[in-house]
Amino acid sequence: MIHFSFVLLKLVVPISNAKSTLIATMLSNLTDLSVRFSLSEGGTPARFLIIDDGWQDVGNEFQKEGEPLIEGSQFGGRLLSIKVNSKFHKKGNEPLNEAPSNLKDFVSWIRMEFGLKYVYVWHALMGYWGGVQPDAPETKKYKSNIRYPVQSPGVLANMRDISMDCMEKYGVCTIDPAKVSEFYDDLHGYLVSQDVDGVKVDVQNILETIATGLGGRVLLTRHFQEALEKSIAKNFRDNSIICCMGQSTDSIYHSKRSAITRASDDYWPKDPTKQSLHIAAVAFNSIFLGEVVVPDWDMFYSKHHAAEFHAVARAIGGCGVYVSDKPAHHDFTILKRLVLPDGSVLRAKYPGRPSRDCLFNDPVMDGKSLLKIWNLNECSGVIGIFNCQGTGTWPCSDTIQNNSNVNLSGHISPKDIEYFEEICGDSWTGDCAIFWFKTGSMSRLPIEGKISLSLESLQCNVFTVSPIKLYDQGVQFAPIGLIDMYNSGGAVKAVESFSSPSTSGIKISGKGCGRFGAYSNRRPTRCIVNGEDKTFELSEGDNFLTFSIPAVTTSWDIALHF
Ligand SMILES: *[C@@H]1O[C@H](CO)[C@@H](O)[C@H](O)[C@H]1NC(C)=O
Ligand SMILES: *[C@@H]1O[C@H](CO)[C@@H](O)[C@H](O)[C@H]1NC(C)=O
Ligand SMILES: *[C@@H]1O[C@H](CO)[C@@H](O)[C@H](O)[C@H]1NC(C)=O
Repeated sequence: MIHFSFVLLKLVVPISNAKSTLIATMLSNLTDLSVRFSLSEGGTPARFLIIDDGWQDVGNEFQKEGEPLIEGSQFGGRLLSIKVNSKFHKKGNEPLNEAPSNLKDFVSWIRMEFGLKYVYVWHALMGYWGGVQPDAPETKKYKSNIRYPVQSPGVLANMRDISMDCMEKYGVCTIDPAKVSEFYDDLHGYLVSQDVDGVKVDVQNILETIATGLGGRVLLTRHFQEALEKSIAKNFRDNSIICCMGQSTDSIYHSKRSAITRASDDYWPKDPTKQSLHIAAVAFNSIFLGEVVVPDWDMFYSKHHAAEFHAVARAIGGCGVYVSDKPAHHDFTILKRLVLPDGSVLRAKYPGRPSRDCLFNDPVMDGKSLLKIWNLNECSGVIGIFNCQGTGTWPCSDTIQNNSNVNLSGHISPKDIEYFEEICGDSWTGDCAIFWFKTGSMSRLPIEGKISLSLESLQCNVFTVSPIKLYDQGVQFAPIGLIDMYNSGGAVKAVESFSSPSTSGIKISGKGCGRFGAYSNRRPTRCIVNGEDKTFELSEGDNFLTFSIPAVTTSWDIALHF
């Protein structure tokens, strides 16, 4: 018997680096072999795993063992040691090969079992939600003191949050600022010694609520951030930190190296009124945050009534893709549109942000506006369009939404994509090929052209927009990419023409497998993928060229001869 049943795991599936990944969270029962490999068996393996707070050694005077659960009591828990808790300590009668006896053995075991590239763990900026126990033998050296957070009226007018309200009630045992460098160095040094690759550091906003008498929020935040980032740089191989609850201006201005920050409230799978708000909030927050950090969209469930809505947003968010599915509870139809068989994702280049014409609309509560989010890949643009109306109300808002299903009409246009000219080049015809994901159809539009569509509440669609360029022999061509993926264009890395005395054509390089699509006004004479001739189809009406890229290689070169 292994005692890890209650460790909350988040699984991340990377592409070429840690930030281009499918990420998943699960309340994992690792003794259950039938679910252990469920993501891999479905064809979307996780490569990056974050262990949530279940690893930490925490005492809680507000929640005694065996007593009925008090909602929010976990926010009163305090760290007793920087090391793992007793779930990781082998019991006397356990067989050697089954029970890792420390974090290091556990990490190496899950790395092997799951084929993971990265294992991160969660901790709070102050160790745990309720801080660090002042009188515990292993933590008293950090000289923590209880302080009761005071939330600002500005924050409270916009949102009430159970974690903040509980910390206000239970207090936070705040590490002595003179000891915080030592604390992070001890904690991170220990984690590195256990082969952990990095940390997710949550509750970063706490400093502004407890700063009275400690130099004020600006100085205190600067001090903690400097200590944190110094320790990350010293101990970990990479800049291996994901920030969370770090959206206060003090945190943003004082984090000099941290690259990834959550851009919204948590994903709340059980609350149907928060699904569309989450998407709108991240997109709008990314207008500012996206200039400074890589906005983090948080995890989602692939098996959920709003799963596709969340999945499309992650596909165009330019972010890591996290799923927090319970093992064996996945929707692989959705996951396979996000994640390739090698666990990588087709990450777009920039933070996904609302299109220009959406900026001054309320996509959640005005009852008429759709939300459009744009992004760019190397050779194409992408637009997601979402109906966020009719299912929720902004927090602390006086208006009550009547939660009716709203059917709204809107339009998308290549003009919605900022910096589109960057990918157009000199040979651009001025027209674009537009691929509609939901119907799998192709249109040709001038840059100012529009496509109208209607969407019901919590419905979305995604469009790949590729500039049609002129090549030798009057060939007009635009790659779409892997058309079964939400961000199909993310698969295409480069397109160039080639010519020899005997033949000329177009070369496309990229990654992933599955059906490839492109706009082509002429029928190629040959289609060669990684040196092998492939059959292809060209639909004459809409000039839609398609063929298959086999799953044998992760990257490919296509040569189309005309
Ligand atoms: C974990 O899975 C095993 C095997 O299926 C089962 O016997 C055990 O009860 C499960 N534990 C929990 C906590 O769900
Ligand atoms: C409420 O419902 C009515 C009728 O279904 C609709 O006309 C109205 O626009 C809705 N209001 C909001 C705020 O959604
Ligand atoms: C939504 O509205 C559009 C345009 O008015 C209409 O064509 C479509 O049938 C409507 N959809 C539903 C499900 O009512």
